Amino acid sequence: VLVLPLVSGCTKKQNEIVIGEYDSLTGSDATFGLSSNKGVRLALDEINAAGGVKGKKISLVTLDDQGKNEEAAAATTRLITQNKVVAIIGGVASGRSKAAAPIAQTHKVPFVSPASTNPDVTKAGDYVFRICFIDPFQGFVMAKFANETLKLKKVAILRDVKNDYSVGLADVFRDEFKKRGGEIVTDISYQAGDIDFKAQLTEIRSKNPDGIYIPGYYTEVGLIAQQARQLGIKAPLMGGDGWDSDKLSEIGKDAINGNYYSNHYTTESSDPSVTEFIKKFKAKYNETPDALAALGYDAAKILVAAMERAADLSGPAIRDELAKTKDFVGVTGKVSLNENRDAVKSAVVIQVEGKNRKYVSTVTP
Ligand code: PHE
Repeated sequence: VLVLPLVSGCTKKQNEIVIGEYDSLTGSDATFGLSSNKGVRLALDEINAAGGVKGKKISLVTLDDQGKNEEAAAATTRLITQNKVVAIIGGVASGRSKAAAPIAQTHKVPFVSPASTNPDVTKAGDYVFRICFIDPFQGFVMAKFANETLKLKKVAILRDVKNDYSVGLADVFRDEFKKRGGEIVTDISYQAGDIDFKAQLTEIRSKNPDGIYIPGYYTEVGLIAQQARQLGIKAPLMGGDGWDSDKLSEIGKDAINGNYYSNHYTTESSDPSVTEFIKKFKAKYNETPDALAALGYDAAKILVAAMERAADLSGPAIRDELAKTKDFVGVTGKVSLNENRDAVKSAVVIQVEGKNRKYVSTVTP
């Protein structure tokens, strides 16, 4: 595991509070962790500049899970037992959160996932929270869009069977699209790490769908888009938040343009909290923040706000305050946590246009 000393180093100084973070900083999902970490750091820098929490500065220890579930679990154990963190900002990918969160639960260390949307993640227990919506909603949003806006009748699904997020989201989409009278003409699978999707795409082409739902992560989705167009498939492609990366367009090139996915936030918002965030993020990193950067930023702010309100910085005290999070105005919308410790928030539909992410619509729960 890689140790990156971030805000102010990984050795705990006197009068310093340590928050832990693990995420995928290398591997085929690396932009997830890199972006989320940038958002977290921006938030903690601002908080430290304003005096920290309870008069103490916060330092952040970030570990790399290399895109592997077992490394996410190992990193969580290490953050708790070696770095003695007071709380953990979890990773992006749901599969990794499912491996890591039970460890935080066992040690009674509050765990906040910025972006893991699979419903099972927070079932690990009462110390596990997320500040994003969940996949039953995200899948509903895209099925509704496919049915009402794109007016699709026959959709093919291509899911990553090695990815809990992908499998969960594919199921929700399938059920909702069918409920609306649509037909799923084929529902087939690939595995993360695959690079040749021609067999699946040939099968899909033979069914002549008018849309294809691909709830995967950006590396494979980019390749799938390319190969689909090479095979002459012209149907629109649709997906979920796992598409959200600059790399999607680098890998998918022209083939990914014009296609749609559901997401947590849009850079086109005129909301002052969003425009202010984008400005600060660009000043610090010289790039436009994606959804993960925005979610990482919100997660850190929400966690620290709970720490500030807590009677002390023990796990139970922070946990109790996190559970009370209500109407927190974040960059990704207003965050209120429900009894399952999940956020209930709106989603946006985005259309890919080269490097740009064109805002299409908003769906409220
Ligand atoms: N929601 C995805 C998951 O649970 C992770 C993700 C969130 C990816 C936001 C990109 C943007 O696995």
